[in-house]
Amino acid sequence: MSESQTIQIIPMKSEHVSQVAQLHIQNIKEGFISSLGHKFVCCLYQAIVESYRAFGFVAVRDGKVLGFITCAENTDAVSKLVLRRNLFKLLWAYLPKMLRLKNIKNSLESLLCPAHRGNDLPSADLLAIVVAQEARGLGLGKRLVEASCSEFRKRGVETFKTMVDELFSANDFYKHIGFKHVGKYRHHGDMHNTYVLEIKKQESADLLITET
Ligand SMILES: CC(C)(COP(=O)(O)OP(=O)(O)OC[C@H]1O[C@@H](n2cnc3c(N)ncnc32)[C@H](O)[C@@H]1OP(=O)(O)O)[C@@H](O)C(=O)NCCC(=O)NCCS
Repeated sequence: MSESQTIQIIPMKSEHVSQVAQLHIQNIKEGFISSLGHKFVCCLYQAIVESYRAFGFVAVRDGKVLGFITCAENTDAVSKLVLRRNLFKLLWAYLPKMLRLKNIKNSLESLLCPAHRGNDLPSADLLAIVVAQEARGLGLGKRLVEASCSEFRKRGVETFKTMVDELFSANDFYKHIGFKHVGKYRHHGDMHNTYVLEIKKQESADLLITET
């Protein structure tokens, strides 16, 4: 049995949230969300687990989360849920940070922007994907995207988008597994790329378009 076969891809549940938040903070260090700390990021991922408009998968071996992916059918609806459920908790815990004008602007942009990136883009999003450094190159990232493609199709979604800082090496990962580059935009002062993936129609295990 190969190393990657000992790692299961399963739906993300509350019990995974703390490890997922840690992976996010360790591996997307430059992101504004990471700067708000473990407690805040846990609230965000807990809301994703609880929202019927969002879902996630984790790559797990012996209870250890080695990677995760989160997606939303409609990010605007999920953002509103996060705000509704956590507003007081978030304000209480993060008031000092939130009170800085730049952070208020960044918070709102982070929570609400994906849905406002253009009417011609799909409303479904791949929100975040991370594979722990020690587990990269084993095909887990691709398996996580494939699991999400299957789930999107079950929900009647055929196309989804993702946005990534143009400096991240993940740009090459997305292009390699079949995402199409559809545009650029500025977010928190940095340039980001927007990609779209059309999910293959056939009910095959390999849902991605593999040629670049
Ligand atoms: C991007 C990331 C999720 C890829 O995870 P991974 O498990 O190493 O990727 P896989 O092993 O599934 O790779 C699948 C294919 O993409 C290719 N690939 C992976 N990363 C690549 C990269 N940075 N550049 C080019 N190709 C890449 C692999 O070679 C593989 O190709 P193959 O199918 O022809 O063998 C991982 O590098 C990561 O967590 N990065 C940091 C977090 C991040 O930036 N996330 C995106 C923003 S939310």
